[in-house]
Amino acid sequence: MPDMTKGRSPFYPGQPVPVELFVGRAEQIRRIMERGVGQVAAGKPVAMFVQGEYGIGKSSIAGVVQRLAENGHSLHSIYAPLGGARTLEDVAAAVLEATLRSGAFDASKSERVRNWLAKYIGQQELFGFTLNAAALKQDAPQIANSSRMLGFLGEVRKRLEDRGVKGVFLALDEINGLTRGADFAHFIKGLVDTNAMSPEPLPLLLMLCGVEERRREMIEKHRPVERIFDVVEIESMRNEETEEFFRRAFDSEGMSVEPKAMGLLVHYSAGFPKIMHLLGDNAYWADRDGVVSAEDAIEAVAMAAEDVGTKYVDQQVYGALRSADYRTILAKIARLDPSELSFTKGDIEAGLTQTQKLKLNNFLQKMKRLKVLRSGELRGEYVFTNRMVRLYIWLKSQRPPAGAS
Ligand SMILES: Nc1ncnc2c1ncn2[C@@H]1O[C@H](COP(=O)(O)OP(=O)(O)O)[C@@H](O)[C@H]1O
Ligand SMILES: [Mg+2]
Repeated sequence: MPDMTKGRSPFYPGQPVPVELFVGRAEQIRRIMERGVGQVAAGKPVAMFVQGEYGIGKSSIAGVVQRLAENGHSLHSIYAPLGGARTLEDVAAAVLEATLRSGAFDASKSERVRNWLAKYIGQQELFGFTLNAAALKQDAPQIANSSRMLGFLGEVRKRLEDRGVKGVFLALDEINGLTRGADFAHFIKGLVDTNAMSPEPLPLLLMLCGVEERRREMIEKHRPVERIFDVVEIESMRNEETEEFFRRAFDSEGMSVEPKAMGLLVHYSAGFPKIMHLLGDNAYWADRDGVVSAEDAIEAVAMAAEDVGTKYVDQQVYGALRSADYRTILAKIARLDPSELSFTKGDIEAGLTQTQKLKLNNFLQKMKRLKVLRSGELRGEYVFTNRMVRLYIWLKSQRPPAGAS
């Protein structure tokens, strides 16, 4: 068997996808460009909420539109991941840092920003810099309220005006840790209102990325938040888009994919970008001859299932799902549409023996205790609270699409 030395895997299970491999989302991109970027470039501030589940592609789409906005629409893009932020001071520090790192697509802009904010740079290095964390922490509180933050963003634009910058595109990603308290909701609403009421509003595109529950949580804390966002929903990918992704990704490494293998990869990805990358990565490593075959794809599905099981499923749940007792039940669940998170007990119960029915009850109770399932609105309805668990069951089932085996 010819053995290839591997190049670089074109798959990125844990990161936003590089632009060359970004597929689909044409409609959402158009909407963000027209109603967001276009309006802001014309002088009107806009707030958008990019909404969708974990792993569906929110950060990736934010990256793509920020780049487009930067490159032909005269907005200056700042991308602030707020994963570690709990307070408004943390948010302010993250925005400061993100500003310092902004302008990556245009050296003259990034240089300008760095000179302005030089005191927050700890050490210049050959390819970048380290932060002066103490200075950042000390000054962040100064911009930790909406009007000061607005002032700061206005200053960013002013400093870049002669570089053709008309407005600022601030993306706040990974807001999970912030929405429980009321102050973040007030801060965001304040930012929008203060700007709207100022005599000369800053052309600001404020974009938040998060799951729907986080937006609801903000509304619960501060009702008027409901009105400020244009919500852009990110859903699962279409099969053609998934297929295009695999083709492009393998192609970029000079590899090809047999039709049967393609069928399997698309089928098991279930339109879910995160799974797409996990599967692709495993197929990339399973392959030995530059042609991804059905065997490679099947091996990849088994490996991806283990990846999902060990990395994204709680260990207690993972253990329970491996119990032989539940095999029949899981096989029946796996047969349902993987993009549906809910099912009814009746769907699963049909055709089970008395013993299996007892096991089903036991299973449902246990999964509820482990918070993997919750009761739905209908009688006998159950809903998966975690898409990755649902997809683990799907990948584990090894039930190829019709005609693939
Ligand atoms: N449009 C896309 N084309 C190709 N890969 C994508 C696309 N969107 C997301 N991905 C990939 O899917 C995974 C999850 O994407 P990410 O943007 O991090 O999702 P989220 O921010 O919603 O959790 C990453 O591995 C990313 O590279
Ligand atoms: Mg993300």
